[in-house]
Amino acid sequence: MLYLVTGGAGFIGSNIVEELLKRGERVRVLDNFSTGKRSNLLPFLGDIELVEGDIRSYHIVHEAVRGAEVVLHQAALPSVPRSIADPITTHEVNTNGTLNVLAAAREHAVRRVVFASSSSIYGDSAELPKHEGMIPNPLSPYAVSKLAGEKYMQVYYRLYGLETVSLRYFNVFGPRQNPDSQYSAVIPRFIAAVLAGRSPVVYGDGEQTRDFTYVANVVAANISAAEAPAAAGEVMNIACRERVSINRLIDDLRRLTGREVQPVYEAPRLGDVRHSFADISKAEALLGYRNIVRWETGLRMTVESFAEASFS
Ligand SMILES: NC(=O)c1ccc[n+]([C@@H]2O[C@H](COP(=O)([O-])OP(=O)(O)OC[C@H]3O[C@@H](n4cnc5c(N)ncnc54)[C@H](O)[C@@H]3O)[C@@H](O)[C@H]2O)c1
Repeated sequence: MLYLVTGGAGFIGSNIVEELLKRGERVRVLDNFSTGKRSNLLPFLGDIELVEGDIRSYHIVHEAVRGAEVVLHQAALPSVPRSIADPITTHEVNTNGTLNVLAAAREHAVRRVVFASSSSIYGDSAELPKHEGMIPNPLSPYAVSKLAGEKYMQVYYRLYGLETVSLRYFNVFGPRQNPDSQYSAVIPRFIAAVLAGRSPVVYGDGEQTRDFTYVANVVAANISAAEAPAAAGEVMNIACRERVSINRLIDDLRRLTGREVQPVYEAPRLGDVRHSFADISKAEALLGYRNIVRWETGLRMTVESFAEASFS
């Protein structure tokens, strides 16, 4: 069976590619290497088909989808601050690009499209844990673009019978996540800072919490979502159901690395939510999803992979 992984050169995409190849599946990647890296695909280049191109081009997406049975759509500009600085490009890539993927998938009679959505669509409501029945309240252009993507997924299912599944990822982390961009997520930024002997910068008081999700859980969710009969047309949370504050992350990094870590506290960032914590019962019921790698193990493996990469 042929899988198309859009954004396959990215952090999550390349982890999906690796697992699909381990399972003996055929894999094609569509990526323009804007935030992803060629080095993420280096070990797999002999085993995949690589289409270098932009999901904003319908023609390119159409060619890349040809012959695929399942599309795991991960390509996007994945950052809240980037979307605040440049909402138009975020919209073009995340919303128009997603519509291109759906239109091409319909034309080529793809069986199922799985979409990388985001917990950011919930916004800052006080109710915890976040569950799929809550009314979304996006606080950034990025979150709006992901909500629009979900709505297009559902409309394509209802109108055209194309099976779609949207997975709302909660703060994913793990090997190959980019630590170097001004838009990088907190865990790779902090690990890179600690290993280099620099102070991590905390936005706010550090008591904000996240449901950090090790990437293997997200990979497994994508693979189940490509098959599970009851998941067609659905939207569901993918997380670990664990609440970890930024200050706890810093303590855990001290313990795991044995280094002195002196964080610097700055003002909270616009568009950031205070607490994020998921109800994952829907994914458990529809996908048989489970938290296979928990917080402490996932963080240890991530620190080890970053330490290895910095010595190689
Ligand atoms: N990492 C997280 O915590 C998280 C949380 C929620 C949702 N997501 C979503 O998961 C997906 C993967 O995120 P990631 O963390 O691996 O980010 P990433 O930046 O590592 O991966 C995104 C990939 O998409 C590619 N891409 C970007 N624009 C493109 C374009 N116009 N055409 C073709 N390819 C393009 C990039 O080159 C990159 O390889 C994204 O859709 C993101 O919004 C991630």
